[in-house]
Amino acid sequence: MQSKDLLQLAEQFGSPLYVYDAEKIKSQYQRLTKAFSKVEKLRINYAMKALSNVSILQLLRDLGSCLDAVSIQEVQLGLHAGYSPDQIFFTPNGVSLEEIEEVHALGVQINIDNLSILEQFGAKHPHVPVCIRINPHVMAGGNENISVGHIDSKFGISVHQLPHLVRIVENTNMNIAGIHMHTGSDILDIEVFLYAAEILFDAARNFKNLEFLDFGSGFKVPYKKDDIETDIEELGKKLSKRFNAFCEEYGKELTLIFEPGKFLVSEAGFFLAKVNVVKQTTSTVFAGIDSGFNHLIRPMFYGSSHHIENISNPRGKERFYSVVGYICETDTFASNRRIQEIAEGDILCFRNAGAYCYSMSSNYNSRYKPAEVLWINGEGHLIRAHETFEDLLRNQIALPAAVAKLQ
Ligand SMILES: Cc1ncc(COP(=O)(O)O)c(C=O)c1O
Repeated sequence: MQSKDLLQLAEQFGSPLYVYDAEKIKSQYQRLTKAFSKVEKLRINYAMKALSNVSILQLLRDLGSCLDAVSIQEVQLGLHAGYSPDQIFFTPNGVSLEEIEEVHALGVQINIDNLSILEQFGAKHPHVPVCIRINPHVMAGGNENISVGHIDSKFGISVHQLPHLVRIVENTNMNIAGIHMHTGSDILDIEVFLYAAEILFDAARNFKNLEFLDFGSGFKVPYKKDDIETDIEELGKKLSKRFNAFCEEYGKELTLIFEPGKFLVSEAGFFLAKVNVVKQTTSTVFAGIDSGFNHLIRPMFYGSSHHIENISNPRGKERFYSVVGYICETDTFASNRRIQEIAEGDILCFRNAGAYCYSMSSNYNSRYKPAEVLWINGEGHLIRAHETFEDLLRNQIALPAAVAKLQ
């Protein structure tokens, strides 16, 4: 996609606006499957929490992807998008037994991440093929909020608890069909994946009826020009070889699963916002946009960096700006960032806005959530309308006048 297309979409659909490039999603999907083409049975479960618009889910389904869902509502969205239950994987954390049973009743593969639920589920549903999430105790990830495989993490069942886990499985006659791990997000070093994979293989040796091994995700994508990223091709070469050797040792062709979010959709997304005000103070020049952390929270939540360009003035001389939102708390998208000279009314484009951006947006400050557009075959199509005042009032219940007054 080119900047002029983005600018035209901002004019057509208004700002703020999310735009997704279908071609980029396709090329990322194909890059990943190609990197692991030496694995006989490969399955990609798109981590739909990253971006769950139904049109995006359908696009990925048409490419051959399956889904990774973390809530029953995500499962329902996946079914609504046309995935069959056996194409959906449920990998929740800390949800109730009732929710797990409801998802199981829909025919979806469940993944259990704690011993308490494992024991309860196993006692009630022996023989059901279940996946278990192992915590390999590997410190990995770009930030502490997205490092989830370390010793203090709430995720997964510790590898040190395997003897206890095996005892529960034997006593309840459970059928362990798969083992899963996910150590974090934004992991650059492929050695980390390979090291954690060995831990998964070790854990797998405890179970005789496995069908698959799920290596989670966490691939790092580039956030700016010349930024470093996980070398997927190299990882594909090394991990495929190791995985195939393990299958031989195990005596069965297992399915290798990944559940990427960012890798598939991060770079495909653009967030467009208009500059409401340029404000020079004694220390800085602020560019205040018609958005805030209600629409894009990652910079404030994770300290994530989104490359920003002024697509209204692409050849402008670069100057230093702090780009801020309109929320009544400090919501700084970027400080001291070199951006082409900005005038009020210009459209700024935030890159890497496909993953964990719209899906984390809110109505804070009673603002509407933005519209979403899919750029496909050279045209922009609205795939979610901008919210309206009715959306803010939906589900609010006005008290009858007689009970509304304090006595
Ligand atoms: C269990 C699990 N799988 C997959 C993902 C997707 O990770 P990423 O977006 O880094 O690919 C996450 C992200 O939080 C996750 O928690």
